[in-house]
Amino acid sequence: MGTGSDMYRQQILDHYKNPRNYGELEDPTFEHVGENPMCGDTIKMFVKLGDDDETIRQVSFIGDGCAISQASASLLTNALQGKTIEEVRAMDRDDVLELLGVEVTPMRLKCAVLAEKVAQDGAAIYVGDKDIDETTTEE
Ligand code: FES
Repeated sequence: MGTGSDMYRQQILDHYKNPRNYGELEDPTFEHVGENPMCGDTIKMFVKLGDDDETIRQVSFIGDGCAISQASASLLTNALQGKTIEEVRAMDRDDVLELLGVEVTPMRLKCAVLAEKVAQDGAAIYVGDKDIDETTTEE
């Protein structure tokens, strides 16, 4: 009999092995890449906005890394479809931890939140709130 957290573990493995929204988008409105310098794992996210220039019409990612980082990118890109840039910017790490559904150790927290940071920084740069155009790093 599976417990609730077994179910979430299964879900993480499934998203790791069969990532959703995986691949590059052609002509994205913006894209952003992030890296966890401790391990070198990366996530690059591609976002295409609708005609209102505000609502996410399509979002995808490519990446290389551990199960948690890649599964959270897969889960997050699912959750971002149809959201506005404002809604993305209002998200925080708790939202992505909720999507993952398991307790993560402090070590694994960096893995879990990388995708969310990439989405946040990409959105911030797009609206002009950050003028960096560099890789997001999770220290
Ligand atoms: Fe690199 Fe998880 S071990 S992001």
